[in-house]
Amino acid sequence: MSYVEILGSGAYVPSKILSNKDLEGIVDTSDEWIVTRTGIRERRIAVDEETSDVASVAAKRALENSKVSKEEIDYIIVATLSGETITPSTACMVQSKIGAINATAYDLNGACSGFIYALIQGEALIKASKAKKVLVIGVEILSKFVDWKDRNTCVLFGDGAGAVVLSEGDKGIITTYSKSFGDLGMCLTIGGTPLNNIFMEEPVKALDSSIHMEGGSVFKFATSAMVEAVEKVALDGGITLDDIDIIIPHQANYRIIEYASKKLKMDINKFFINLDKYGNTSSASVPIALNEALEKGIIKTNMNVVMVAFGGGLTVGATLVKF
Ligand code: COA
Repeated sequence: MSYVEILGSGAYVPSKILSNKDLEGIVDTSDEWIVTRTGIRERRIAVDEETSDVASVAAKRALENSKVSKEEIDYIIVATLSGETITPSTACMVQSKIGAINATAYDLNGACSGFIYALIQGEALIKASKAKKVLVIGVEILSKFVDWKDRNTCVLFGDGAGAVVLSEGDKGIITTYSKSFGDLGMCLTIGGTPLNNIFMEEPVKALDSSIHMEGGSVFKFATSAMVEAVEKVALDGGITLDDIDIIIPHQANYRIIEYASKKLKMDINKFFINLDKYGNTSSASVPIALNEALEKGIIKTNMNVVMVAFGGGLTVGATLVKF
């Protein structure tokens, strides 16, 4: 075995659509501002389903499209930062909901780069002969953390899930790249559970549990990180930028993707973009886009496809895959 292949994919988004027009009634914004600054027109919001429910639907679809049974799955790796409980993990809940009784299941938090990080782990497990089939899911219910009074952020995010099944193959993942920049972490935060116990004189002040972002700093990081990551996987994979057929970028902002396309001197039409419909779904954005590109037949056999993501942490990750 020399490669790890993506056998198939699946995705699921909640049915409630929140349009830019709807947001005009919630914060001081306009459809025109959101479209010109981000490219986003609408996003999905979960109202009657939790993170593990959304992830499970995407997972079942990925299994079906891959023609792999739930019992064959050795690992379930869920990239998320928005699980409904700290324990059990979203991955364990998905295991139970889909009946993957033979799997080891765990979550991974790489923020918006999480799906790429999980893919890297899945590939490593198969290459190390620790697994034959790995289910990798990116899922996020970011609406849990949105501050609906903050127009700087509430217009950007959405909910959804995407999943793939990995297996041994004679082509597939050619190379991967990842890096983190912990020193820049406070540019993009969602508060957690700070130190607080009976032995302390004063509990540590908690960070706000809604999304806070220095938009300009993240934008600057995203553009350079994305360009560098694409160049790196092309170089490591032994191909030129011209040999890349399709790029599936993290769907955060059309302007970030446009900037990257210019910097890389690559036609913007090589970038698969669906952020107009879903906004930024964090770790779910790349697998949702990948699934749509596969379903529409845009990704064809033997194409060189690069998936690339960046996000909180700050983090970046990319992979070059031969389909
Ligand atoms: N509607 C209307 N006006 C808005 C607005 C909104 N939703 N959000 C911000 N504004 C206003 C600002 O208040 C500011 O007004 P001012 O000039 O009177 O102060 C003006 O628009 C410009 O704001 P600015 O932040 O400079 O806009 P921008 O062009 O940099 O775009 C982002 C803001 C958030 C879209 C952009 O910085 C971005 O995409 N950053 C990266 C975000 C990202 O990808 N995060 C996720 C990483 S995984």
